Amino acid sequence: MSQPRKLHIKSYGCQMNVYDAQRMVDTLAAEGFIETPAADDADLVILNTCHIREKASEKVYSELGRLRVLRDEAARGGRTMNIVVAGCVAQAEGQEIIRRAPVVDVVVGPQSYHHLPQLLAQAKSHGRALETEFPVEDKFAFLPPPSRQAIRSRGISSFVTVQEGCDKFCSFCVVPYTRGAEVSRPVAKIADDVRRLADNGVHEITLIGQNVNAYHGEGPDGRPWPLGRLLRHLARIPGIVRLRYSTSHPRDVDDSLIEAHRDLPELMPFVHVPVQSGSDRILGAMNRKHSADDYRRVIERLRKARQDIAFSSDFIVGFPGETGEDFCATLALVEQIGYAGAYSFKYSPRPGPPAAEMREMVSAEEMDERLVRLQELIDSQQSAFNRAMIGTTVDVLFERPARNPGQIVGRTAWLQPAHVFASPDIIGQVWPVTIERLERYSLLGTLAPGPVQAQPFSTTSLPTTVGA
Ligand code: 5AD
Ligand code: SF4
Repeated sequence: MSQPRKLHIKSYGCQMNVYDAQRMVDTLAAEGFIETPAADDADLVILNTCHIREKASEKVYSELGRLRVLRDEAARGGRTMNIVVAGCVAQAEGQEIIRRAPVVDVVVGPQSYHHLPQLLAQAKSHGRALETEFPVEDKFAFLPPPSRQAIRSRGISSFVTVQEGCDKFCSFCVVPYTRGAEVSRPVAKIADDVRRLADNGVHEITLIGQNVNAYHGEGPDGRPWPLGRLLRHLARIPGIVRLRYSTSHPRDVDDSLIEAHRDLPELMPFVHVPVQSGSDRILGAMNRKHSADDYRRVIERLRKARQDIAFSSDFIVGFPGETGEDFCATLALVEQIGYAGAYSFKYSPRPGPPAAEMREMVSAEEMDERLVRLQELIDSQQSAFNRAMIGTTVDVLFERPARNPGQIVGRTAWLQPAHVFASPDIIGQVWPVTIERLERYSLLGTLAPGPVQAQPFSTTSLPTTVGA
């Protein structure tokens, strides 16, 4: 039998890319590839790129420069190393990559990963291959069900793609251009994947999609189902104890989703709903299709539905034309909502979306200063949120042994890592844990004795949070 070939994937960016990387590993495993953590001894290296923020393509070219050195070394040792560029930079700049980087054998966009084996064969016989079409009809064709072995290596928690692409066209964002129009997978296919994962020991599912709550996949009744109904359906699958979804848009938080949060204990009370800015003027220029008050109302409705719910968000500072006043509106919104965590970025023009044409650029110093101020505020809220856990008893789903001998680690409903001294036999189970200490972002506690019901933790106790 021939030796297995080694595959190294370097992934940047969002959860969708992490998930796609797993799928590429699954697809190529059927071709005799096994994954290796190092690029040096790989026969195939895939750069799974992200185009969403600053300097994405420059990073790819400098990484390709490093890979050229490794490939030349391999060639001197009589070994062939193939190099693939995948992901959203491949989608957006495919031709340019082929032109500028002769080291690359295959350029493949996110909709074409199921063609990787053919593209590699094509590169071998004809030189180089480029595939960045949008064959919408088989957008999910690269999703063969993962093998039992692949599932096992993923442990307790797994992502499942439910929709791809986005029709929102926020004026700063490349996603509608790189990932194409919004397409949802049928309910039955998703339920099959979740059942298979549950049968193999997965207890937590995160449904992912670029605009996940725009989900409208075909239900068993032939009608489009909203995300809330899909969640309700999946919550009934034996073995699934936790459900999450990411990333959502405030405009697509509909009644079905609110009701799912109200009714499903499996649906975790931690929601990532990006708002980007607290200023209506900037939200308008961003083409977000919602105001700051619309967003506040969405948060209020979710809080009413589930009292222990907490939020995270994305923010962009320094969008073209953002004044000091606009930025203060963002700070005020953050103060008012009280986040358990959030990501904040400096605006960076991307090729494609219309904001790149806007001329009123905010100076680099101003952007830096705003980013620091916003991040300080968010950090203080996150610390307050974590500190407020001390002394409470919360449910933890245990995932794996910790680095410290004798300890195991899991996650709370709010995704905080929680460490306890306990037997690894309870990995895969949910146990109530009394939180005693906080070490950076990790909680340390002890298993609550006996069949204690975990106390719901109320975010309304936080100093930064306005009442639900
Ligand atoms: N500049 C800065 N941040 C951006 N994001 C998306 N596009 C840009 C851009 N051009 C941020 C948004 C989005 C997150 C995934 O990345 O906040 O929600
Ligand atoms: Fe991009 Fe806006 Fe779609 Fe999110 S909702 S993926 S920011 S266009």
